Amino acid sequence: MSKIVSMYSKKGGVGKTTLALNFAFYLKSLGKSVEFIDLDPQQSALPFFKDEQSSDTPIIYSNNVRHTLKTDFVVIDYPPGATLDHKVKGYPVLISNPTKMSIRDTYLSVINAEHERYAVVMNRYQGNVRDNKLLSDELLEAVKKSNVTHSAKCNLFTVLGLRAGFQSAENIDKTLFNLSSEDKKRISSYAQIRDELTDVFDTIIKYC
Ligand SMILES: Nc1ncnc2c1ncn2[C@@H]1O[C@H](COP(=O)(O)OP(=O)(O)O)[C@@H](O)[C@H]1O
Ligand SMILES: [Mg+2]
Repeated sequence: MSKIVSMYSKKGGVGKTTLALNFAFYLKSLGKSVEFIDLDPQQSALPFFKDEQSSDTPIIYSNNVRHTLKTDFVVIDYPPGATLDHKVKGYPVLISNPTKMSIRDTYLSVINAEHERYAVVMNRYQGNVRDNKLLSDELLEAVKKSNVTHSAKCNLFTVLGLRAGFQSAENIDKTLFNLSSEDKKRISSYAQIRDELTDVFDTIIKYC
């Protein structure tokens, strides 16, 4: 049985595809077999897989949720506006950015949770912005309260900073986990972001 991890939020531009791609390539770097399911009709993740065909253990790229899942892990990249598919038993990673609207949507996903366990990632956080701190505290409170009143439990609540390195890697259709040594020289801050992500991904792997 594959372990299924869904990168989810109702809002666009919060980092679903960024985290889904980096997670898939991180799993591959650990020697895991991976299927990447791109549910976004815009297929913005597709160019990242162009070098995969020549790889010994390519990440399988597909567009729909099949039920003959044979890989160690399945990573699902949701499109904005979609509803989380509760028929797909998997581990949802609810991603928010520090805006009131995104937090409210994530809060609704938390209180309507039908899954057993899930993670919350506050992404694109700028620590020096006072409102961001208030909003992320607000979401954390909502998660804590729902852990008491609902059967669904949050195993991971984490905050990821606003990092230019994501954009730099994305511009060459790479993730932080499949950069060449030349790329690494150009993306000077890559190691720092990669370490930050590795901690988050290891926790997701532990609970999913
Ligand atoms: N923590 C971050 N810091 C800086 N840029 C980010 C961060 N997370 C995502 N981005 C950038 O934001 C843009 C939108 O991210 P994306 O993953 O495509 O969002 P979504 O899939 O939720 O629509 C991308 O250009 C991505 O590189
Ligand atoms: Mg996307």
